Amino acid sequence: MSPNTQVFVLDCGGQYCHLIARKVREFGIYAEVRPSETPAAEMSGARGIILSGGPSSVYEPGSPTVDPEIFSLGVPVLGICYGQQLMAYLLGGKVLPGEKGEYGLAFLDVDGRGRLLDGVETGQQIWMSHRDTVMVVPPGFAALGHTSTCAIASMADEERRLYAVQFHPEVAHTHPGRRILSNFLNTICGCVQDWDPSQRIPAIEELIRKVVAGRKVFFFVSGGVDSTVAYTLCLRALDPDHVHGAYVDTGLMREGETEFVRENFARLGARHFQVVDAREEFLSPLAGVTAPENKRHIIGEQFVMVQERILQSGHYTDADWILGQGTIYPDTIESGGTKKADLIKTHHNRVAGIQKLIDTGRIIEPLSSFYKDEVREIGRELGISAELLERHPFPGPGLAIRCLCEHTSAPLEKLPDGYLLPVHSVGVQGDSRTYRPALALEEMPSDDIHATELINTIRGINRVVALAGSHAPLAQMHGTNGTITEERLAHLRRVDAIVRRLSHESGFDGKIWQFPVVLLPVGTAARPDSVVLRPIDSVDGMTASAVIMPPELLRQMVAELLAVEGVCAVFYDLTHKPPATIEWE
Ligand code: XMP
Repeated sequence: MSPNTQVFVLDCGGQYCHLIARKVREFGIYAEVRPSETPAAEMSGARGIILSGGPSSVYEPGSPTVDPEIFSLGVPVLGICYGQQLMAYLLGGKVLPGEKGEYGLAFLDVDGRGRLLDGVETGQQIWMSHRDTVMVVPPGFAALGHTSTCAIASMADEERRLYAVQFHPEVAHTHPGRRILSNFLNTICGCVQDWDPSQRIPAIEELIRKVVAGRKVFFFVSGGVDSTVAYTLCLRALDPDHVHGAYVDTGLMREGETEFVRENFARLGARHFQVVDAREEFLSPLAGVTAPENKRHIIGEQFVMVQERILQSGHYTDADWILGQGTIYPDTIESGGTKKADLIKTHHNRVAGIQKLIDTGRIIEPLSSFYKDEVREIGRELGISAELLERHPFPGPGLAIRCLCEHTSAPLEKLPDGYLLPVHSVGVQGDSRTYRPALALEEMPSDDIHATELINTIRGINRVVALAGSHAPLAQMHGTNGTITEERLAHLRRVDAIVRRLSHESGFDGKIWQFPVVLLPVGTAARPDSVVLRPIDSVDGMTASAVIMPPELLRQMVAELLAVEGVCAVFYDLTHKPPATIEWE
């Protein structure tokens, strides 16, 4: 089952590495992500090593580094962004710490092609995101290219097969990116194509039978893509009577969600699948709670209790059962403890209650070496409906983290650029968590550039929204003391269903990665809540950009939302991640 790892991507910063590994796999070449300090000896059989980008500076104490022996293994190495700086720094070049940095589009002037830039025309668009720059290449290296602001945009030592680029070949904005990666993987490393996820199903089924070894499998399913595909694989690989599952209705689900899951599992041929109604158990302890981390904590605790009860009542912790999980590859890396990724939000997915099964090795994770798009491909092969496979991700704590709570009746504070909303939301700045008010602009701008500038200049905010429509001017709106109640959840469900329907009918949902809809306790006495639209594009949720929808769709959406009882205003979130997070809590 496990393919040969031809390429190791060394993780120098927690989030950039996954996109690189996925791009390598798209060439049909199996790549894995490893911690940056992985000893060279463990990678001596590889065909190539890539050093990822990352937010650090090579001069900062404790910044990621690599075993310098990797440069003398004889295995080709490609440094990307921070990876180029690290390569230069470790091999005797000079890196200049930058004050401001260079972010966004640039144009690459090719000075010497070598094998890395073979076929790359000069003047092509590339994507830069860096603070420090390489000023002097190490002995044996030659500069291959520059931009108007970056003297060494690429460098190589052809003899030792060491290559680097300051820009990001893994992103679509870098037009010659695919060509450069192909040059490295195919020409320089001589990788072979041996990775095709759609042909992996028989191998996965064999693995399931081997690990399960005559026992039975129990799943907690969320209704999302991963757990559904993993469950389906087990149903196919094993006797369907030996595959059981439970779905917990927390009362924090979206409109129609529970019915959707029930119908889908019936269609997939699940014979022992139960929907557990635990609404009361989640909603009671959440009453009156406002702090996001407290809400998450309560939900996590309740999950443990409910799951524990289900496990006990079904005797699922007995020796003849093992736990099935829809864990996918990025989950294994993150929970494997990338030290560099700061705690921004507590994710509750790994509850202590199932620890016993995990600790005793009684666990099967059939998708643990696959990325999301590979899981979708497998799902398509299995005949799972596109409606399910194309679903946007939905967070475990559900609508609780989209139903914002705040004890305040304060008015909105007028600032020169707009109004400060009397509610806080979570953000991520410089890899750490912020919890700040959002700025509301009175009108929709034509693009998001202004929003980014505002966050950089106005201290104390981490998010910018624009008023897309309302029943009252911002000056008359105020905080309305909202907490989690059945009534507010019902309103949120209504508005979320409207947004989902219109995005689906217009095809907009296919153009974005996720579309959280948030309820804010801001409005007037008659209409106490406002809606925030948060459509974003992303690759893996680690970074994201706000997406502006077509004006006609927005007009229609706003009109329908303002007709919902209790809704005072509709705001449009214009903020990228970072500095804001995708969800508001
Ligand atoms: P943020 O808001 O941190 O979200 O930018 C990144 C992605 O993670 C999802 N998310 C969660 N998923 N449990 C989950 O299973 C959680 O507690 C949780 N919090 C955020 C979010 O929807 C987005 O896709």
